Amino acid sequence: MIRLANVYKKYTEDNTALENISLKVDQGEFLYLVGPSGAGKSTLIKLLTCEERLTRGFLKIGNVDLLKLPDQHVPELRRQLGVVPQDIFLLDHLTVYKNLAYTLQAIEVERKKIKEKVLAALEKVGMLQFKNAYPNQLSIGQQQKIVIARAIVNDPKIILADEPTGNMDNKSAIEIMKILYKLNQSGTTILMATHNSTIVNTLRYRVLEINHGRIIRDQAEGSYGLATDYRDVFVI
Ligand SMILES: Nc1ncnc2c1ncn2[C@@H]1O[C@H](COP(=O)(O)OP(=O)(O)OP(=O)(O)O)[C@@H](O)[C@H]1O
Ligand SMILES: [Mg+2]
Repeated sequence: MIRLANVYKKYTEDNTALENISLKVDQGEFLYLVGPSGAGKSTLIKLLTCEERLTRGFLKIGNVDLLKLPDQHVPELRRQLGVVPQDIFLLDHLTVYKNLAYTLQAIEVERKKIKEKVLAALEKVGMLQFKNAYPNQLSIGQQQKIVIARAIVNDPKIILADEPTGNMDNKSAIEIMKILYKLNQSGTTILMATHNSTIVNTLRYRVLEINHGRIIRDQAEGSYGLATDYRDVFVI
């Protein structure tokens, strides 16, 4: 479903954010992207959404070759992806409901379906009672949940989530993981960049570790880091 071969991303001549990345993700997989700040996790996600273009290599999502995809066709790709960017981006002058409805209007979903889909997505993230609130009336964690609702509102086959549990308390983070877990159980492919070692070590999935723009580990049901990492030491 997602295939990268020898992918490079250079932001400038002397700044190579990703180097020789080769990776295959099958439909229905759940993949954590881990690694220190600046490793290249967000860059990898941005290459998949075409927010950034790869410098060279091969990158395909489904039957779409992203190196060759013309800019004017990028929206058609995006509407099939659920994207949770690292920075919360909501339209401040629109209510929560309208922020989500706007996404669906932009991709020409039928009017009567919009209401149904928006309410269902808000219900899934437990934010239905905030549908008439404006983003600046919500906490950062609550805004994050709205961003997740917006990502899932059109039932995407692939979710690309960059730190979806950042800025959240543990209870909210667990709620978000339950949502992603359920979506994955029903066949949605999920790529999630995270620094949350507890989540990675608890809900075990494939772990891809990136460091200095290179893949240094690709492990089925992996852990967040080495056993010597103090965050991985649990007293039972
Ligand atoms: N728009 C940009 N222009 C130039 N360099 C960039 C740009 N975005 C990222 N970089 C560089 O690319 C490298 C990888 O950044 P990236 O944002 O992918 O890291 P990350 O793993 O997501 O980090 P974090 O965990 O802090 O989110 C860094 O060296 C960063 O400075
Ligand atoms: Mg990042």
